[in-house]
Amino acid sequence: MNTIPFLSPLLVAVSLIVAGAGAGDEATTCPGAPSMTVESACRNVSGTQAMYDTCRDALAGVADPLSDHDVTVYALAAAHGAAASAEATMGAAIDEVRNNRSLPGDERDAYMECAVDYSTALHAMGSVVDKLDGCSFDGLAGDYLNGLIDVENCRDRVLKLPASPLYAMVLVDRNKAGMALFLGKLLGI
Ligand SMILES: *[C@@H]1O[C@H](CO)[C@@H](O)[C@H](O)[C@H]1NC(C)=O
Ligand SMILES: *[C@@H]1O[C@H](CO)[C@@H](O)[C@H](O)[C@H]1NC(C)=O
Repeated sequence: MNTIPFLSPLLVAVSLIVAGAGAGDEATTCPGAPSMTVESACRNVSGTQAMYDTCRDALAGVADPLSDHDVTVYALAAAHGAAASAEATMGAAIDEVRNNRSLPGDERDAYMECAVDYSTALHAMGSVVDKLDGCSFDGLAGDYLNGLIDVENCRDRVLKLPASPLYAMVLVDRNKAGMALFLGKLLGI
């Protein structure tokens, strides 16, 4: 079964989603959203040092982190970072399927299924970014959860493999998507 023709348009479609959710929204503010520093936001959403570090990483690109910002800024930064990370992993999975001639069959199947999981995850993440950009939070929590569940589905697939070079990437994606959700919850969703 040749699945390559199916994977190629998938990757192109996803690249457009993530690129479209692009720059220029750093200054987004939404009515009623609380305002705080990066430090406060990360303290608020992190129960452990590992989560705090993930949060600081997610918000490392926020300008002037010592000043108060609308938490929408943090939610957007984290959502963009989670989507970019997931996009890179999806690209790596597709690259393995296409180019790695020593890929065992079970790994190949897992990566193809992961590419599908990730394409739906990226649709959900694109929807998160659009809603944050538009300050319209209807269904936002559900979009976050859908993206997270898709990434976790892929994690469960690669977890069953004896060893997978993608496993670490998928775990990072899962943590970034989870952190994006926690930061989004500062909006009261
Ligand atoms: C963040 O944490 C601080 C300190 O615990 C608290 O005062 C504040 O209300 C929290 N803000 C949000 C939006 O949770
Ligand atoms: C190809 O797949 C095998 C099995 O997972 C892996 O060990 C190897 O690193 C892969 N090669 C490349 C170039 O990614």
